[in-house]
Amino acid sequence: MSSRLEGKVALITGAAQGIGKETALLFAKEGAVVFLSDINSSLGETAAKEIRKNATYLDLDVTKEDHWLAACDTILKKHQKLDILVNNAGITGFLEVFGPQDPENASLKDWRSVHAVNSDGVFLGCKYAIKTMKKNGGSIINMSSRSGIVGIPGAAAYAASKAAVRNHTKTVALYCCENNYSIRCNSIHPAAIYTPMWDAMLGSGEQKTKTLEMIEEGIPMKKMGTAEDVAYAALYLASEESKYVTGIELTIDGGILAGASSSPKKGSKLITHHFYRHKFTD
Ligand code: NAI
Repeated sequence: MSSRLEGKVALITGAAQGIGKETALLFAKEGAVVFLSDINSSLGETAAKEIRKNATYLDLDVTKEDHWLAACDTILKKHQKLDILVNNAGITGFLEVFGPQDPENASLKDWRSVHAVNSDGVFLGCKYAIKTMKKNGGSIINMSSRSGIVGIPGAAAYAASKAAVRNHTKTVALYCCENNYSIRCNSIHPAAIYTPMWDAMLGSGEQKTKTLEMIEEGIPMKKMGTAEDVAYAALYLASEESKYVTGIELTIDGGILAGASSSPKKGSKLITHHFYRHKFTD
């Protein structure tokens, strides 16, 4: 055990499972006092109990301004400061309650529901973190996505909301610099991280195994990432090791964004020939 976050107070949203929970576990191991928050209180309480030392669960629906006020108030009353906020809560729009998510058929209601969590939630988180942190400084980490960088035809609202997170991160970073607040703000862009979020997309049984194999075949590193892979990125951005880093986007994606889907595949003479002919000789 090391102590990269000794003495720090952290709030993590959507921490009942997946990336948020793993980040909470790692932050606590590194010495932080951690507030796990979510809308799923039973899973959230269980996650906080697993960590045991220095972990508390708070109900915080990121779409509700009064929940943010109450959470910051609770933390300030107990610790007089907040050093780290991880705006991690997010939804894809792929749960059964939602209809199609493509730009032609998605409903305005679904579009707004996805934006309410992913982009309004991050806006509110940044707003109240700035107010809470501006005296002592701090680090805000916003969970965007690979989908905030490229277009995703089957997930229009998700992609647009994550693009909003990517851009707002840079606005917050510069605003804090301009106002001499010692607050850094950075975004993380995961892709293909195996968490419960994938259950709604993968199905079950043999179908699930087949789909997973297909997904992994398309990843340059040929495997999905883990929640811990993302937690370590958050740890770096939360710690003093990144004290000169603000406004960046850190991709954690097994190489997915390093190329384009049209990149030539090694050994594929036809594709390679086509690619070079068009790129370099036309
Ligand atoms: P997950 O679905 O396993 O966990 C998300 C958590 O957010 C859940 O505990 C859920 O209850 C909570 N949540 C949902 N709505 C909320 C609300 N209104 N207020 C507070 N909490 C709420 O998801 P996962 O995979 O751990 O993802 C975490 C973040 O990482 C999300 O923002 C997601 O978009 C992002 N991400 C994940 C990727 C992946 O491959 N797993 C890839 C790219 C981005």
